[in-house]
Amino acid sequence: MPGFKTLKLLLVSVLLSGTALAASDEAPKKEYPVDPVSGLKMAPGWEMVNAQCNACHTTLIVGQNSGDEKAWRETLQWMIDTQGLWDLSETWEPILAYLSTHYGVADIDMETFRRLPLDPALMPPPKK
Ligand code: HEC
Repeated sequence: MPGFKTLKLLLVSVLLSGTALAASDEAPKKEYPVDPVSGLKMAPGWEMVNAQCNACHTTLIVGQNSGDEKAWRETLQWMIDTQGLWDLSETWEPILAYLSTHYGVADIDMETFRRLPLDPALMPPPKK
């Protein structure tokens, strides 16, 4: 039978590991569930993106891209200027915040993981 001292040690270590777990629970960035239909992280603002960003292409394209606020702003502006994306008006800033927060600068090496160029046959027709 274990002595009193052993039990006390055991109790102390159980208590300590409990507090360690509780402390590490607070530290990591919040993870959001992924909507199985759109592929979007269900973080605040995702409905806005879901409603506006799959009219022309799948929203899966969002997760395939990443960037800081400047990069996302340029992507959105490019779609507005050249691809017929409408004026996002009051949804501009919340959408931009959603994208740059949840699809921010990637930690992966984009030289290695960048997708291959699209086959020319899959590209939209050139503008006249
Ligand atoms: C009016 C049509 C239209 C809408 C609406 C639209 N896009 Fe696009 N988007 C395009 C086209 C066209 C392309 C280029 C074709 C492709 O890569 O499939 C594109 C490409 C992209 C790309 C890839 C850019 C790159 O550099 O490869 C991303 C990311 C993207 N869109 C995000 C969004 C987001 C976020 C929204 C919602 C705010 C949105 N799109 C709404 C037309 C649209």
